[in-house]
Amino acid sequence: MKKTIAVLPGDGIGKEVTKGAVEVLKAVGQCFNHQFEFVYGLIGGGAIDQEGTPLPSSTKQMCGKADAVLLGAVGGPKWDSLPPHMRPEKGLLGLRKELDVYANLRPVSFYESLVDSSPLKREYIENVDFIIVRELTGGLYFGKPSERAQHNGEESVVDTLFYKRHEMKRIIKTAFDIASIRNKRVTSVDKANVLESSRMWREVAEEIAKDYPDVALEHMLVDAAAMKLIQNPKHFDVVVTENMFGDILSDEASMLTGSLGMLPSASLSLEGPSLYEPIHGSAPDIAGTDKANPIAAILSVAMMLRYSFQLEEEAKHVEQAVEQVLSAGFRTADLAKPGQSYLSTTKMIEEIIDTIVDDA
Ligand code: NAI
Ligand code: MG
Repeated sequence: MKKTIAVLPGDGIGKEVTKGAVEVLKAVGQCFNHQFEFVYGLIGGGAIDQEGTPLPSSTKQMCGKADAVLLGAVGGPKWDSLPPHMRPEKGLLGLRKELDVYANLRPVSFYESLVDSSPLKREYIENVDFIIVRELTGGLYFGKPSERAQHNGEESVVDTLFYKRHEMKRIIKTAFDIASIRNKRVTSVDKANVLESSRMWREVAEEIAKDYPDVALEHMLVDAAAMKLIQNPKHFDVVVTENMFGDILSDEASMLTGSLGMLPSASLSLEGPSLYEPIHGSAPDIAGTDKANPIAAILSVAMMLRYSFQLEEEAKHVEQAVEQVLSAGFRTADLAKPGQSYLSTTKMIEEIIDTIVDDA
C-alpha cells in the first residue's frame, strides 16, 4: 500500500511527539511492506511566525491532497496576546472545518499497568474499553447567532444549537459502522426531555438503527450519562453525541485512564483525508525538555492505520507494542510515580519502535 501523509508538527511538544509518530509509521511501513510518504507543513504559532497566519493556504492545499493528516499540537504563551482571529488555535479550528472532519473519535481504554494512574478504583475501571463518537463541526459551537445584544435595556446573550438533519445522520451512521465492527451496541446521548434538537437527534438515531438490525441502540440523557461514566464505565461501548455534550463527556472519560499523554483521537470526514492528533496541547511547561509522553501521538497513528487505511492488523500491532512497553514497566515522566525512574521522549519512542520491529 502506498499513502501520502501530511504532517503538521505544530508547536511545543507537538514537534517532539509527532517525530515519534512518524518513526512508528516508518517502522510499520518497513515491517508490513507499505510505502508511507511524508510531506510537512506549518500550522499554529510556527506558521504565524513564518507566514503571518495560523493556517497558510499552502498547508490547506497540502492536507487536502494527502491521504491522511497527522497533527501535533498548536499554541503557546508566545502567541497568547494576539487578537482572537490570529491565534494558533484558529489554525486548528480552521483546518477541522476545511477538511470537514465531523466525526471525532476518542477511544478510552484501560491499561492494566497504569491502574494506579486513575483516580478511580480498579474494580470500576478494569477492562474499560469504549469509544466516544463526538460530532465536531456543528451544534452550539458553530451556530449563529452567537452574540451579545441589548434586550429591553439589559445586556443579553444568545448562542445557537443548530443542526441539519444530514449532519446528525452522518455522525450517527459513523457510530453504527464502528459498533458493527465492535460489540454491536450504541449509546446515543442527548437531552431529549428538554431540547428539540435532541428530540430530532433521537428520531434520526432510530431511523439509522433500522439499517443495522444487529446493532442494539439505547438512548441516555446526558446528565445520566455523566453519572454512569463514573458509576459504571464498563456499561459503555460506542457512545455517540452532539458537539458540546461530547466535549464534556470525553474530558470526563479521559480521567478513567489517567494521563492526558495517553489519549489519541481521530477526526474523520466523509470523503477526503481524516485528521489524527493526540488530545493534549503543546505543553509549554515541558516543551524542549524531552519529557513529553509520545504515546497519545503514537496511538493516533494506530487510529490512522485502522480508519484511513483499513490496516487493522498493523493498528493492533502498534497498540500491542505500546501495551507491552508499559507492561515491561517503562514510563515517561507523566506516568511515573514519585521517585520512580522514567524514560525521555526519545527513549520511549525507541522502546516502542524496537518492540514493533521485534514482534513483526
Ligand atoms: P496541555 O495539554 O498542553 O497541557 C496540560 C498539562 O498536561 C501540562 O502540565 C502538560 O505538561 C501536560 N501534558 C500534556 N501533554 C502531555 C504529554 N504528551 N506528556 C506529558 N505531559 C503532558 O494544555 P494547556 O497547558 O492547557 O495548553 C497549552 C497550550 O496548548 C495552549 O496554548 C493551548 O491553547 C494549547 N492546546 C492545544 C491543543 C491542540 O493543539 N489540539 C489542545 C489543548 C491545548
Ligand atoms: Mg474539551
